[in-house]
Amino acid sequence: MPSNVIVGLQWGDEGKGKITDLFSKNSDYVIRYQGGNNSGHSIHIKNRCFILHLVPSGVVYSGVKCIVGPGAVIDPKSLIQEIQNLESMGIDTSQVFLAKRAHITMPYHRLLDQYQEEALGKQLIGTTHQGIGPTYEDKISRIGIRALDLLNSKVFYKKLKYNINLKNQIFTKIFQKKPISFHKIYEEYIEYARILYNRFIDAIYEIHNAFHNKKKILFEGAQAMLLDINYGTYPYVTTSSTSTGGVCIGSGIPPNFLKNFIGITKAYCTRVGFGPFPSEIENKIGELIREKGNEYGSTTKRPRRCGWLDLIALKYSCMINGINYLIITKLDVLSDLEIIKICIKYKYNKKIIQYFPANLKQNIKGFYIDMPGWKQDISHIHEYEKLPENCKKYINFIEKYLNLEILLISVGSERNQNIIKNKSLFFKIVT
Ligand code: GDP
Ligand code: IMO
Ligand code: MG
Repeated sequence: MPSNVIVGLQWGDEGKGKITDLFSKNSDYVIRYQGGNNSGHSIHIKNRCFILHLVPSGVVYSGVKCIVGPGAVIDPKSLIQEIQNLESMGIDTSQVFLAKRAHITMPYHRLLDQYQEEALGKQLIGTTHQGIGPTYEDKISRIGIRALDLLNSKVFYKKLKYNINLKNQIFTKIFQKKPISFHKIYEEYIEYARILYNRFIDAIYEIHNAFHNKKKILFEGAQAMLLDINYGTYPYVTTSSTSTGGVCIGSGIPPNFLKNFIGITKAYCTRVGFGPFPSEIENKIGELIREKGNEYGSTTKRPRRCGWLDLIALKYSCMINGINYLIITKLDVLSDLEIIKICIKYKYNKKIIQYFPANLKQNIKGFYIDMPGWKQDISHIHEYEKLPENCKKYINFIEKYLNLEILLISVGSERNQNIIKNKSLFFKIVT
């Protein structure tokens, strides 16, 4: 059974949690394949709100097997807390499993994340401080600690000893900070291993068997395309492959397991942290969108920077991800604006460019067309035909520009606040 992939196409927080939840109803498996607890994926059901950091968003539907894949990184302290929170909200987490090959975030990674940011001064990235970057750094340096190392106390002892000696040199000599204690961390992590023991699996065989048994598998991206380590706005990016290419790398599957590449974009843009943002709105309208869209980070609570929809960036993201279908979220947030701008070109050094440059600079500015807004509240609408004409014009413009079909439009954070634009196609894909 060919699988579906859901990825964010902007700088994160597009509503991947909400959409993954929607697709999970008809999925046997939901797999997170990159990133760690830097994510915050929200799902609203009636008056309950679940914020998933590492646990795949399929967990809210009972019976869905949720796997944190080999390409993701696991902070056991944060994960145990997340599992406990979910259980306390009545969610069954017995089907949450973790790949033995996944790398483990250690306390020294969180400290390094913080110290490296401090050292960058004004050039800081604005990371989530969860230690994600340093965990991936150790993985690439081949000194990382994998989940399976944690399960073998002798191996863990040796690897941890080596790492703490090394990190203490860095802490004291480079950052002029205090060293950390081996024993405390060793004991703490042995306890985490005990708590999580039954959740560790050989994810590769599990996923391949599921595929051959015709199970419906959904891959849930975290972060988003413009934060991709290779193709994002480097160095203002995260440290994993957030594009659809990352699915194979992070789950141990071949590309021909995958069929539908579903990209999610907000009807406008947001970004948390630093880095270039050509269509950023630095006036009252930006603040209005932030308040109306509740644009505050799910993980760090930081205010998100808000901007107009950037079609240059979106086209680039769709191209790299091989997107076949688009989902637009938060269209309701744009209601009541007189004029809605869409960025269709960039202005850079008095030149107009129509592509996403490798060296996207802070001083690149958007060049816009103006679309007329609509005054009605659209958050209760379920039929495409019932949307205001100007709203449909906005949607049509995006579809035409990207030459892509919009599958679904989300008009509120609630599970059922959706307009399925092409019903037969949508049900063919999800079922
Ligand atoms: P993710 O990281 O991509 O899963 O997105 P987040 O959960 O971090 O941020 C998206 C926020 O927007 C969450 O609070 C969602 O509940 C909310 N949301 C999702 N879709 C919509 C929508 O169509 N309209 C509105 N108003 N809110 C939405
Ligand atoms: P979800 O999955 C938005 C951003 C951080 C920072 C940069 C690097 O909820 O969309 P990191 O801690 O990963 O080293 O930070 O990436 N960032 C996100 N922004 N949504 C996320 O996840 C993000 N995860 C990381 O703000 O700019
Ligand atoms: Mg988020």
